[in-house]
Amino acid sequence: MYNTYVVVGTQWGDEGKGKVIDVLSPKLDYVVRFQGGNNAGHTVVMNNDKFILQLLPSGIINSKGKCIIGAGVVVDIDVLLKEIDQLEKRGKNLDNLFIDERAHIIMPYHIEIDKAKEESLGENKIGTTQRGIGPCYVDKISRSGIRIGDLLDLNIFRERLTITLKEKNDILRRYNKNEFNLEELFNKYSILSEKIKNRIIDATAEINYAIEDNKTVLFEGAQALMLDIDYGTYPYVTSSSPTAGGSTVGTGVSPKKINKILGIMKAYTTRVGEGPFPTEQENEIGDLLRNIGHEFGSNTGRPRRCGWLDLVIGKYATMINGLTDIVLTKLDVLDSFDKIKVAVGYKIDNKVYTTYPSSIKDFKNVEIIYKEFDGWKQDISNIKNYNDLPRNCKQYIEFIQEYLNCPISMISVGPDRTQNIYLKEI
Ligand code: GDP
Ligand code: IMO
Ligand code: MG
Repeated sequence: MYNTYVVVGTQWGDEGKGKVIDVLSPKLDYVVRFQGGNNAGHTVVMNNDKFILQLLPSGIINSKGKCIIGAGVVVDIDVLLKEIDQLEKRGKNLDNLFIDERAHIIMPYHIEIDKAKEESLGENKIGTTQRGIGPCYVDKISRSGIRIGDLLDLNIFRERLTITLKEKNDILRRYNKNEFNLEELFNKYSILSEKIKNRIIDATAEINYAIEDNKTVLFEGAQALMLDIDYGTYPYVTSSSPTAGGSTVGTGVSPKKINKILGIMKAYTTRVGEGPFPTEQENEIGDLLRNIGHEFGSNTGRPRRCGWLDLVIGKYATMINGLTDIVLTKLDVLDSFDKIKVAVGYKIDNKVYTTYPSSIKDFKNVEIIYKEFDGWKQDISNIKNYNDLPRNCKQYIEFIQEYLNCPISMISVGPDRTQNIYLKEI
């Protein structure tokens, strides 16, 4: 059996993936990001020291193994260099960081097109992070993209840029935005290429050999199922596949080689940006969750929308990812609540849905079926053993586990890497 682990978000992101991956990272030979870009914000907290990673794999803080930005990721090189610089200033050695030559580059025009498109959509905007993610993936799929590996031969880079820039400037002109100059961009990237060329490798081959060699490899998902381009709340989604399936496409590793699939699930739900959110609490409950859970975007600082745990989405996530384990996070945030609710179904036009439908046209017609639990009203953030948890808390956990028919292997009860309860070896 291979020692491979996929870690994915099961809701709308920010479930605590960064923390969990950091906790697992000392045992890993490879941590590989497989999709998304610097729209992610993955937080690692160690001895009150906080690191927010946008592009770098979350193993970068505590793993002795290699950290790889995989083929399916889109890379803003300015952001990458800034992150590397910031971590080096904090005393980290980043000689173990590599990028697959197949990863696409987020160019400055992608960022401007992202912003211009959002602006022109007005109240129909997606609420993107404005990091150029969507336009970069558009170019990749439409075969107009530029890949990291193209920087290794500046003649190829120039050719790719010349072909694509004309089209990008046409788009920017239509939005009444400034155009980009070929020479200026070429010169900028000629300099940038020197700074990263030692990190550019054929990671796809290396990861596959490492797996065959029984090395421990973790595939790090950014975002989450409900932001997935196919299975999320389209069009209010990101432009990649943050599901377990995406991990194989985004790294060139066969599904045959994936062993465990860990779904990170927050004990309640949050969402940043626009789009449907059935269990959202736009009331004092939502405010409490936001304040106690510090639910403000790690990337953009935007307040996160908050609501109850939704097991309709939980079932959908378990099914689509084929989860082998669940890691339940931020359970401590519920410590002070008298009553805690969990959605177990949506009733739409007299039909009950227990997994997420492809679209919900009119939310006024949706009745959420909740199951209510008594709170435990006790601080659990220092508990290390499952048996020491309050009875009501265990009931909440056991209900989730049974309802989803998937073991909860680990529970996170605080932001620090030491605040965990293990139920089962991962
Ligand atoms: P990610 O995008 O999935 O990596 O999650 P983020 O880092 O964006 O957001 C999770 C936030 O919750 C961060 O501020 C973490 O430090 C914090 N966090 C993670 N796990 C826990 C937990 O179990 N309890 C509490 N209170 N905070 C947590
Ligand atoms: P992590 O990895 C939460 C959301 C944006 C927006 C939508 C599309 O930290 O969980 P994009 O810039 O990707 O085109 O924006 O997706 N979004 C996230 N929300 N956590 C994230 O990442 C997100 N990455 C993108 O807010 O609604
Ligand atoms: Mg995040």
